[in-house]
Amino acid sequence: MLFLEYIESKKNEHLEELKEFLRIPSVSTKSENKADIERAAKWVAEKLRAAGMENVEIVPTGGHPMVFGEWLKAPDKPTVLLYGHYDVQPAEPLELWTSPAFEPAVRNGNLFGRGTADDKGQVHIHMKAIEALMKSEGKLPVNIKVMIEGEEETGSTNLWNFVEKFRDRLKADALIVSDTSMLAPGVPSVTYGLRGLNYYQIEITGGAQDMHSGVFGGAVPNPLTILCELFAKLHDKNGRVAIPGFYDKVAKVSKAERKALNGLPWKLKDFKKTVGAAGLCGEKGFTVVEQIWIRPTMELNGIWGGYIGEGAKTVIPAKAYAKFSTRLVPDQAPEKIAKLVEKHIRKLLPKTVSCKFEVLSMGKPWVAPYTHPFFEAAHSALEKGFGKRAVFIREGGSIPFVTQMYDTFKVPCILLGFGLPDENAHAPDEHILLENYFGGIKAVAQFYKELASV
Ligand code: BES
Ligand code: MN
Ligand code: MN
Repeated sequence: MLFLEYIESKKNEHLEELKEFLRIPSVSTKSENKADIERAAKWVAEKLRAAGMENVEIVPTGGHPMVFGEWLKAPDKPTVLLYGHYDVQPAEPLELWTSPAFEPAVRNGNLFGRGTADDKGQVHIHMKAIEALMKSEGKLPVNIKVMIEGEEETGSTNLWNFVEKFRDRLKADALIVSDTSMLAPGVPSVTYGLRGLNYYQIEITGGAQDMHSGVFGGAVPNPLTILCELFAKLHDKNGRVAIPGFYDKVAKVSKAERKALNGLPWKLKDFKKTVGAAGLCGEKGFTVVEQIWIRPTMELNGIWGGYIGEGAKTVIPAKAYAKFSTRLVPDQAPEKIAKLVEKHIRKLLPKTVSCKFEVLSMGKPWVAPYTHPFFEAAHSALEKGFGKRAVFIREGGSIPFVTQMYDTFKVPCILLGFGLPDENAHAPDEHILLENYFGGIKAVAQFYKELASV
């Protein structure tokens, strides 16, 4: 196979080019990185053009731009839509990185840097697979549309509009995404389920201003204490979310599926090692795999207020804040859950404080059958690329576009993950195993080839 030789011969160039991509700090949540976001979008557009994609465009949205391109010269062959994101999570806390987040470095067979696994490395895998096919065969085996967005990490809030507006251009026989993980090293995986995500922020106000804790303390509400009391009440002793109605619409997962998921070559020992905590906790009655893949949760993501500087300050803060989120599973409806959460929080809070409640983003869960012949092509390509049979898994993370695409077009969504659960996505020292990056390029090129004969 010529394209495999091409990929093998370009390893160094591919790696150097990926590093270039990783050096752009395209953090979508921070306004100070707006110029970097634009730079990353341009970079992607340029490389897509160089790979031979046509009609490559940087399309403005209400937020960060979308990069779109296509190659539609394979009549009678399937058309697939490739989706990924060029934005990344903030790199903080910077001091915890072994090498700087935006100065990619190779150590022990891994490439370190923000975005290596999530998702620049995985986007690059596809860009290079497409380029390899184009350069070695002069054409692509199937029709490919590419859409790489810049605000996945902030909840893809402008995506709905985009999908509505460009419905025709996005139409395809399948969606292909590489923004997930393999079950374990050497175990190629296809993900057929993701949790949804609602993200919330609250601001609790007590007094009209900060107060001297000696002069006022004892008689006035302390929003920080009240916030702590509030969150202490949101789980019960069995690890369940203590919000009335929260579990009402949770779809029952069949015995057969639970058995299959629990029988995967997934090791609790490895999970515990990655976590590194003294112990695990979670909803009673479910295995860890079930807790992270098929059960909904509520997590406190950040809490602040009052004095956190050096030394002591005797103050009763006027305000306290929290960021928190709920992971959702089929068939929980994000709007409904947001209402339940707000209602319950307002009910729990004492009358002595006021509360501003915001929903920052909402996203539906996704799960779908993997019976379409495209999945067989994926399975076979992964096996060829990694020398091992692929497994079908669900995962706990969220990718809003997958649900939107599935709901809009009901097409098969094929999620080929090349990250690993312990690669520190969203955390310091994020990395990708180079073996998976290089293997991924070959497997993906193989996959596009196999799609042509479905
Ligand atoms: N790539 C992840 C999603 C993911 C991670 C799926 C691991 C499966 C396994 C994506 O970039 C992400 O982080 N999504 C956010 C959701 C978003 C709405 C902020 C997430 O899951 O927190
Ligand atoms: Mn991602
Ligand atoms: Mn992410």
